[in-house]
Amino acid sequence: MSSFGNDIKVIVNHNALSYYDEGPNKAPVIIFIHGFPFNKSMWNLQVEALKDKYRVITYDIRGHGKSDAGNDVFTIDLFVNDLINLMETLKIDNAILCGLSMGGYIALNAMGKYQERFDALILCDTQCIADTLEAKEKRIKAIESIRKTGVEKYADESIKNLFASGSFITKKKEISAVREMILKTSEQSLCNTLLALSGRNETCNILSRIKIPVLIMVGKEDKITPPASALFMHERIKDSMLKILENAGHLSNLESPDEFNVQLKRFIASVY
Ligand code: MLT
Repeated sequence: MSSFGNDIKVIVNHNALSYYDEGPNKAPVIIFIHGFPFNKSMWNLQVEALKDKYRVITYDIRGHGKSDAGNDVFTIDLFVNDLINLMETLKIDNAILCGLSMGGYIALNAMGKYQERFDALILCDTQCIADTLEAKEKRIKAIESIRKTGVEKYADESIKNLFASGSFITKKKEISAVREMILKTSEQSLCNTLLALSGRNETCNILSRIKIPVLIMVGKEDKITPPASALFMHERIKDSMLKILENAGHLSNLESPDEFNVQLKRFIASVY
């Protein structure tokens, strides 16, 4: 049961998820998972670039975008279950999986249990380590600050770290779209996802077991998951490719979309 188009709702794990499904029905499938606290619209430029040749699925992680939050405690494992259930509901046996940051955490966790369902993996601006004690404390402070001063201040503080310095001049439209995505995420979902991120397991131990083709991309000025984190994964995933994108921070697909899409298309074409 699948319908094509924008903003379709489907029940997955007893919760309504919103997704886009574009491109030819029988074409190879590429699934994109967004970062925190954004939504599926962050992949619009990639959907446009791929949808003539591939079936492209993007979805809102529960509590984000137009997906409901549901009643379960947010964990990365729950988000992985949602992904696998979404694939089952849409009758997708195999796909290429692309995740950015939190999307990458979900994708790497999915590799641990469900590698056979994926033909290739694209990891963008992400890392395999768990939160350090310091990172966990920062998440707790962020939760306290969201509760005390609201989402707007949290959005403005987040923006400062998300982008490369040049993007503040050249990518004003994209920055304001990202700010809107953060503002549209409810206070409760922000806090629940911060807890899920802080409680996530490390996935570095599974990197040597990944046997499918892997492309790793990272913005040269990514302050949150820097090129060193990408290099660390690249060195441990056999035959993986690493591309460091100029003029990009943590949101490389938005900040350097042309280069990002060239690498993305080239990689996908090498898989199918
Ligand atoms: C993201 O973009 O998904 C977040 O930066 C991930 C994180 O906070 O660890």
